[in-house]
Amino acid sequence: MRNLFPVSGFMLSVALIGAGIASTFAADETLRSYAEKNDIYIGAILNSQWFGGGLPAQYEQIHKTQFNIVVAENEMKFDATEPSENRFNYNNGDKMVKYAKQNGMRVRGHALAWHSQVPNWVNNYKNDKKKLLSVLKNHINNVVGHWKGQVDEWDVVNEAISNNEPMWRSYSVWYQGIGPEFIDSAFVWAHAADPDAELCYNDYNLEQGVNPKAKAGFLLEQVKRWVANGIPITCVGSQTHVEDTTTDKHFIGSPDSLRSLARELAKLNIKLKITELDIGFKSGINVSKSDLERQGQTFRQYLDIILEEPNADTYLIWGVSDKWSWLGGLNRQKGLIYDDNLKPKPAFDSLLVRLQNFEPPQDTIVTDTTSSDTTAQDSSIAIAQSAGPGSVTMHVAGRTLFIAGTQSAKVDVFDMRGRPVFSARSENGSVELKGIPEGLYVVRVRNGSASLTKRFAIK
Ligand code: XIL
Repeated sequence: MRNLFPVSGFMLSVALIGAGIASTFAADETLRSYAEKNDIYIGAILNSQWFGGGLPAQYEQIHKTQFNIVVAENEMKFDATEPSENRFNYNNGDKMVKYAKQNGMRVRGHALAWHSQVPNWVNNYKNDKKKLLSVLKNHINNVVGHWKGQVDEWDVVNEAISNNEPMWRSYSVWYQGIGPEFIDSAFVWAHAADPDAELCYNDYNLEQGVNPKAKAGFLLEQVKRWVANGIPITCVGSQTHVEDTTTDKHFIGSPDSLRSLARELAKLNIKLKITELDIGFKSGINVSKSDLERQGQTFRQYLDIILEEPNADTYLIWGVSDKWSWLGGLNRQKGLIYDDNLKPKPAFDSLLVRLQNFEPPQDTIVTDTTSSDTTAQDSSIAIAQSAGPGSVTMHVAGRTLFIAGTQSAKVDVFDMRGRPVFSARSENGSVELKGIPEGLYVVRVRNGSASLTKRFAIK
């Protein structure tokens, strides 16, 4: 079960800083700060281009302020870490681990035993079971051992299940050469190399239902067996590379199905993590504003699982900006939460508002005031100094929003699930919040890069 109370020194200090600077709001206004209040991890990969220094500074700035967990897109895979037999290359992985340490982030290791991105020299041994076993064991010993205590969790086995039938993926070199017991062994070796690391089985299409004929159903049976046999697995990673529901005719996955899997895993004391999320549209189609808003809602529904299920703690997106995404190769586009220009998309807003307003169920309410959101009740909160001259404040009276301290601002209103319900520009210090039904909302006022948010009720 996840610990609902942030206890690490790092998290606590973030909460305290957050409380201390309630009057300069922008520093608090990140996915990361709200994720930490909710005691979950939110993250994105470091794209391969980052390792070669090929990305604009703004990319890293966004990455380290918005996220608190990181994974390498390709740099800890087998072909990257052991390109030739028993010669290991940890340079890129070390670079990421250092970055994570500097920025107080959790680290995922991806992936140890996978059929893809395996160097050719491994395939040469596909008919030699004994040799392949020793190759896999040596790889896991070295790689997990090298980052012992620094990589917090590993994808020990990735994508070992067939897409079409409830069975193992038959064309994996590990499966062909060793048999399905490569999985059990990989977990045992990884645990021996770092007994404190969390160890996951990771796969895609797990949001397609806990049905014995689907991947998740087959996997669940295996997890039961592993747990019964003492195999040291602690988590299941759901990649969750999905397509927007309106463009994928064959889409049969859903956040609800993934939630059912989380609940089944909870019975086995196994965690569920979302490890590679993207929600793409078919390549070539025109993506409208309302498409992007619907996409935001799907992002939010997957987040709800992580917020609401006690054995779910991680929400990791497979990329930062649509400009650098593997989705083109899948014939999909625009599946991430920042656009090509590194501007936040509606999905970002949906996630931020949801994280900001999530309230844990009564029986798990935290009484520690250092981590509670005091800003929500304030009627006037200053925007960060960087917003421009002086500070900006706002308050709502009836249906009028008053904004002081700025000539012009963009105003957005969201419902408590992060759905946009109203947007306007204020030019003269007030905005009529027209056409919004009674209820609780969040209003956000933006001026340049600074923003200020506040909860309010329409009665
Ligand atoms: C992808 C990377 O994003 C690409 O750059 C690379 O060419 C292929 O692999 N499932 C996984 C990830 O587990 O490792 C894959 O990453 C995406 C699908």
